Amino acid sequence: MTDRDERTRAQFRNPQGEEGRKVLESMNDHHVPLWEFCLSKLPKSMDGAVLDIGCGGGGFLRRLSERYPFAMLFGADISQDALDMTMSVNSDIYESGGLELHEASVESLPFQEGSFDMVTAMETYFFWQDFSRGIGEVSRVLSPGGVLAIGSELRYGDGDDARVDSMCEEYGMRILRDEEILSVLDSHGIDAEAIPGEHGVLYRGVKRF
Ligand SMILES: C[S@@+](CC[C@H](N)C(=O)[O-])C[C@H]1O[C@@H](n2cnc3c(N)ncnc32)[C@H](O)[C@@H]1O
Repeated sequence: MTDRDERTRAQFRNPQGEEGRKVLESMNDHHVPLWEFCLSKLPKSMDGAVLDIGCGGGGFLRRLSERYPFAMLFGADISQDALDMTMSVNSDIYESGGLELHEASVESLPFQEGSFDMVTAMETYFFWQDFSRGIGEVSRVLSPGGVLAIGSELRYGDGDDARVDSMCEEYGMRILRDEEILSVLDSHGIDAEAIPGEHGVLYRGVKRF
């Protein structure tokens, strides 16, 4: 792999600059089928606070606002360029006070305990430095009874594990097996199930009371 290829691939983990913006725009198109699948399995209504972690180009927050027009939305991402695009894609919601954005990593979220009724994380968990630590933070900021939605296009067990391995190597991702994800969620007080679909998998959980 050339240096240029490596730089391009790193943009998926932490989009930066002009190249990062192109990657964010393309993700706002390519991730739509996964987002729609995940939304189809989530509650029909929600008027509390919803946090999208690793919000990228902001397309999923846009869909959350259409699905939950009365919810207060929050986005967090380690990339300021991603947050800038999220803001421009959702400028109407941001300007009306319905969206807050934070430059933050999942491993250290700038929110109080029990702040959110729903936390979502699309196409991002496999880039986190420490999945268990990230989920510990997610659980801390979720209210008891709050819903967690982790979406991923790639999953072991869908028939081509060798392809998952090569994508992991190519993009520096760490795809985990369903059992490991569910076990980490359980150890942080979240009851969850894996829901595979045509466009990926949703790990849907509820924080225990
Ligand atoms: C592949 S993109 C997915 C973006 C968006 N969720 C989507 O579905 O299109 C991964 C995003 O996760 C963000 N990210 C990576 N590691 C993160 C972390 N530790 N905490 C928060 N965001 C992170 C990246 O900056 C990037 O915007």
